[in-house]
Amino acid sequence: MIKAGLFTLVPILSFLHSAQACGDHHHAKRALPSVPLTPPTRPLEWGDFNVIHTTDTHGWLLGHQEPSFPEPNYSGDLGDLASFIEHMKKIADKKGVDLLLVDSGDLHDGAGLSDGFPPGDVDGHESDKFLLQLPYDVMTIGNHELYNYSVTYDMYKNFAPKLNGRYLTSNVDIEVDGKRVSVGSRWTKFKTAKNRTVVALGVLFNFNANDKGTFVQSVTDMIKESWFKDALKENPDVFLLTGHMPVQGQGSEWEAIRQEIRKSHPTTPVLIFGGHTHIRDCVQLDGRSMSLESGRYMDTIGWMSAKLDAKTSTKNITFTRRYLDNNRITYEYHTNTTEKSFDTTLGQNITTGMHAVAKAFDLDDSVGIAPHDFNYDLAPYPDAEDSLVRLFAREAMPYALTYNNTRASIPNFMIVNSELLRYDIFQGPFTKNDQLTTLPYVDAFAYIADVPAGAAQKVLTTINGARARRGLTARELEEALHIAGGVELIHRQWVRDMIVEGQPRKDNLTLGYVTTDSCPGVGDDTLHKQPDQIFTPPRYVSSKPPTVNDTAPIDLVFVDFPRIRREILQALKTIVGKDYTESVKSYTDVTSDKILGMYAKHAWQSQ
Ligand SMILES: *[C@@H]1O[C@H](CO)[C@@H](O)[C@H](O)[C@H]1NC(C)=O
Ligand SMILES: *[C@@H]1O[C@H](CO)[C@@H](O)[C@H](O)[C@H]1NC(C)=O
Ligand SMILES: *[C@@H]1O[C@H](CO)[C@@H](O)[C@H](O)[C@H]1NC(C)=O
Ligand SMILES: *[C@@H]1O[C@H](CO)[C@@H](O)[C@H](O)[C@H]1NC(C)=O
Ligand SMILES: *[C@@H]1O[C@H](CO)[C@@H](O)[C@H](O)[C@H]1NC(C)=O
Ligand SMILES: *[C@@H]1O[C@H](CO)[C@@H](O)[C@H](O)[C@H]1NC(C)=O
Ligand SMILES: *[C@@H]1O[C@H](CO)[C@@H](O)[C@H](O)[C@H]1NC(C)=O
Ligand SMILES: *[C@@H]1O[C@H](CO)[C@@H](O)[C@H](O)[C@H]1NC(C)=O
Ligand SMILES: *[C@@H]1O[C@H](CO)[C@@H](O)[C@H](O)[C@H]1NC(C)=O
Ligand SMILES: [Zn+2]
Ligand SMILES: [Zn+2]
Repeated sequence: MIKAGLFTLVPILSFLHSAQACGDHHHAKRALPSVPLTPPTRPLEWGDFNVIHTTDTHGWLLGHQEPSFPEPNYSGDLGDLASFIEHMKKIADKKGVDLLLVDSGDLHDGAGLSDGFPPGDVDGHESDKFLLQLPYDVMTIGNHELYNYSVTYDMYKNFAPKLNGRYLTSNVDIEVDGKRVSVGSRWTKFKTAKNRTVVALGVLFNFNANDKGTFVQSVTDMIKESWFKDALKENPDVFLLTGHMPVQGQGSEWEAIRQEIRKSHPTTPVLIFGGHTHIRDCVQLDGRSMSLESGRYMDTIGWMSAKLDAKTSTKNITFTRRYLDNNRITYEYHTNTTEKSFDTTLGQNITTGMHAVAKAFDLDDSVGIAPHDFNYDLAPYPDAEDSLVRLFAREAMPYALTYNNTRASIPNFMIVNSELLRYDIFQGPFTKNDQLTTLPYVDAFAYIADVPAGAAQKVLTTINGARARRGLTARELEEALHIAGGVELIHRQWVRDMIVEGQPRKDNLTLGYVTTDSCPGVGDDTLHKQPDQIFTPPRYVSSKPPTVNDTAPIDLVFVDFPRIRREILQALKTIVGKDYTESVKSYTDVTSDKILGMYAKHAWQSQ
């Protein structure tokens, strides 16, 4: 299949459940979720220099509006965040301290507000305008801004200019009129409200799946650039490094940048804001530096504070960090406001504007009513009724791919990779937005005719092989950094890792993230418990085996992208002793993104 299919997401979200949405299913607009939310455990600890961080919002600016847990934890929308920032700025002012707002990229590919655009538009063009209404001090580019040149060009032409030199793309270029230029700016220097000098960079990890006409320079090469050396000639109070790059582990290059800075600025505070792997994480690379990564999809708002001393001091700086659940309870708690006093004019205007776009994009158009939640890893595949993987592989895929297909009467065995499924399905209307959040990837399906049924099933076992229930290998992890669905694997592995390392479960807590990171103290603002058990479906899953004998010839159907096609052909060669390369044909015009919608229309009408 085409590279574009794997990399081009077309997701959407669930704003349908908001008051201004029309249709027959919604909660009162921005009312608090009907379940009581657990408030944060303790006030934020302010320093002299404080930063609020967003990353990997992927178009989820309407927040998580589904009533099933833990979605209400993340029910704040961008308007609520804007109100929060406005109150927090006032608090900062009263305290006489700085409060900055920073973003680490990936603004679309994930939800309908960005990706549900009508033909002719550009992904994220409308939703980005809402982000521009917030007082961001610094933003940077993510890999999702680089899969399609039109999107990168939109960032260059329409987005970056609105940030007046604060859209930082230190190592990312675009070719325009035959010239290669930074999409935004390489670096910037500015003064804060309290007159502190800040030198800021915006760095992307060594991403290699970018579109033609866009360029990513490696971090190793970037730190040799003359502009980088110029930036280090400055003598700021703070280095503020934002970047679309994990704060530690595979794919993280922050240490190289920090070391370079430390050569000329051994003690200047270095604050790092990362992203891309969608997790909550924190690490201190040295005693005068802290690095924070703040989740994904508007589930988490990051907080970092630093008590600054003389910048030549060699003592450790007192930093704090906190992962705030994005909801109004959190925001009201930390700003000492109430349901009545919380909303600001700007916040309300943003919410109203977003709902108007959701309406224009038909994001609430429902194709059926999901009878219950379908969960990716809280229910075991293939047996549990509420396993999302079972729903897709065993029910929806076989239905949709054989729909109006002349090969429908020939027995088949269908193989698909489970990480295509990006987000859970919740009970209630299954909308255009839900289709985009759950399975945005536009992948085609191919088949090989006359494969012995027994061999077809052995192919599945073979390609799953040893990796079935193990963690990701270093090579898979590296690959996962570059492909869109790959980050889902990393995030899910992180959730599982947290279960091993996390705090003991407390029955009076609600489900949600339980974070263990490399920084001192507890990071989560609201304490949650983890699910009792997490199930890991195999990497590759299938339709039900056909009820024919092992030698009967069947159609072996599979999602057709290069890695899977390669692995299947290799396995067949080993099992059957035959090269089927020339026998691969297109099975249907139905692409992966259409499957759940077709199934919902067929199976979910009557509930
Ligand atoms: C978080 O989700 C859990 C269920 O997973 C729910 O019980 C709880 O109320 C939510 N907490 C917040 C703060 O939204
Ligand atoms: C890139 O985006 C443009 C504008 O939305 C769209 O017309 C085009 O089809 C996209 N390209 C790919 C390969 O998806
Ligand atoms: C910041 O510095 C400028 C001069 O550099 C001065 O005019 C201004 O009053 C200072 N503001 C604060 C808040 O200290
Ligand atoms: C200073 O911070 C570093 C890095 O976090 C840590 O290893 C070291 O123990 C700290 N030193 C003191 C005196 O706290
Ligand atoms: C919170 O607000 C209330 C009412 O405006 C006020 O009485 C109270 O002192 C405030 N509390 C804090 C901690 O600021
Ligand atoms: C309200 O939002 C619209 C976009 O939805 C924007 O054009 C306008 O400037 C905003 N007005 C105010 C007062 O913030
Ligand atoms: C069925 O397939 C035929 C041939 O591909 C096509 O012309 C027809 O429109 C399809 N019908 C439906 C209902 O999709
Ligand atoms: C849960 O219970 C523990 C001890 O029983 C208590 O300390 C804690 O405050 C409770 N947490 C919540 C959110 O009720
Ligand atoms: C297996 O099924 C095929 C096709 O239905 C048939 O031709 C063949 O005789 C069957 N073999 C056995 C051993 O039943
Ligand atoms: Zn992302
Ligand atoms: Zn990313």
